Amino acid sequence: MAKVEVDLSKIPEGKNVTIKWRGKPIFIRHRTPDEIAEASSVDLAHLKDPQTDADRTKKPEWLVMLVRTQSDFQRDYYVASIYSLYISFTLQGVCTHLGCVPIGESGDFGGWYCPCHGSHYDISGRVRKGPAPLNLEVPPHDFPEDELLHRC
Ligand code: FES
Repeated sequence: MAKVEVDLSKIPEGKNVTIKWRGKPIFIRHRTPDEIAEASSVDLAHLKDPQTDADRTKKPEWLVMLVRTQSDFQRDYYVASIYSLYISFTLQGVCTHLGCVPIGESGDFGGWYCPCHGSHYDISGRVRKGPAPLNLEVPPHDFPEDELLHRC
C-alpha cells in the first residue's frame, strides 16, 4: 500500500493543508494550544458521536512502542481522513451525512463545515451540529520523526 509523507514543518500553527491519497483528500491541521485545550474540554454529553480528543489522537499501543515522538506532539496535529469515511461509512461520498467534502477553518465550532446540508465539525473532527451522524474518521498514520507524518 502506498505511503504519503508530509513535512509538518511546512504547516504553520493554526493552518490546514489538504493532501491527496489515492485521489482522496486528507486534512491535516497544525493545531494551536488553545484549540487543543478547547477540544479537550468539550462535555461529551453534548456530542452526537461521543469521543474524547485524547481518544481521537492517541496511537495504538503497538505503534507507541515503535514511534519516538508521541504525546504532546501528536496531539498538535489532527489528521482527518475523508477517504476513510468514504470506505468505512458510506459509498456515496465523504461527509458522514451524504458524502460532500467539508470546508476547513469554517463552521460554528472552528473546524470543518459541510456546505451541502450544514454539518459542523469541531477542531477534533467531531460532528457538533447538522445531519452528519458520525465524526470524521481518523486514518492510520504515524510520526516517524518530529517533523514527518506518514499516512499509511
Ligand atoms: Fe455533509 Fe449532508 S453531505 S451535511
